[in-house]
Amino acid sequence: MYGDIVILSGAGISAESGIPTFRDSDGLWNNHRVEDVATIEAWYKNPAAVHAFYNQLKKDIADKQPNPAHLAITRLQREYKNGAVNVVTQNVDLLHEKAGNTNVWHIHGQIDQAVCMRCGRVLPAAGDMDEKAVCPSCGVAGKIKPNIVFFGENLLYMDKVEALLARCRLFVSVGTSGAVFPANTFARTAKYHGAETVEFNVGETVNRYDFDRHVTGPAGTTLPAFVDELLKERTEEADIVGDR
Ligand code: APR
Repeated sequence: MYGDIVILSGAGISAESGIPTFRDSDGLWNNHRVEDVATIEAWYKNPAAVHAFYNQLKKDIADKQPNPAHLAITRLQREYKNGAVNVVTQNVDLLHEKAGNTNVWHIHGQIDQAVCMRCGRVLPAAGDMDEKAVCPSCGVAGKIKPNIVFFGENLLYMDKVEALLARCRLFVSVGTSGAVFPANTFARTAKYHGAETVEFNVGETVNRYDFDRHVTGPAGTTLPAFVDELLKERTEEADIVGDR
C-alpha cells in the first residue's frame, strides 16, 4: 500500500473536456504556435497580442467542464486514507478546481490570474486584460501580464514540488507528452526517492522509460478504474487489519 501520492497532469487530462492539447494538433494551440504566444520574447515584442490570445483562451475554456478523470482525483482525495494526494498540474485551465480537487499546484500558472512584472503582485484576472493596466500595488502601468509561466521563465511552486516528490510513494502522470522540462523529470525524481511511477496516456511519451507502469487509453476511462483499484486495495487492507 502506498503513502503520499503525487499526480502530475498535462493537457491530455483536459482533452476529453474539449480543451485542445499543445502537441496533438500539429503543434498549434488554438491556431497559434506556442512560441508566438507563450514565450517571454513574444511578450516583450507584442504584449497586446499575448493578452489577446489569453483573453480569447479564457473565453474558450470558460464553459468547459471537468471530465471523469478530474472527478476521479476528487474521489481519491476524499476517500484515500494512507497519505496526502497532491495535484501538480502543467495546465492553466481550472478544471481540477471545478471538479473539487484540492492541493492543486499550477506550476505553469493559471488563466484566472495576472502578475505584475515589476513588483510580483499576483492579481485575480477573470476578465479581459490589456497591456495598459496599472498595478494596484506599485502603481506602474504596462507591466501586468497573464500569470502564465512563459518559456524562459521560472516555474511556480518548485520548492513545494521538490518536497512532494521526495515524500511521495506513488507518482502518477496523466496526459502529458513529457516533452517539456522540468516537469518531464519529476517521475525520475520521485523514483529516486522510492516511489512507484505510473503513466496514463493514449500514446507513447518522450519520457516513457521513467515509468514502472503504463496505462494506455483515454484518462476519462483509465484513471477512474485506477482509483477504484487503489481504494479497493485500501479497503481490503483495512478489512485484514480489522480482522486481526
Ligand atoms: N487521455 C490521456 N492522455 C491524452 C488524452 C486523453 N484523453 N488526449 C491526449 N493525451 C495525451 C497526448 O498523447 C499527449 O501525450 O496528452 C499529452 C498532451 O501533450 P502536450 O500537448 O505536449 O501537453 P503537455 O504535456 O501538457 O505540455 C506540457 O508544454 O507547451 C507547454 O506550457 C505548455 O504546459 C504545457 C507543456
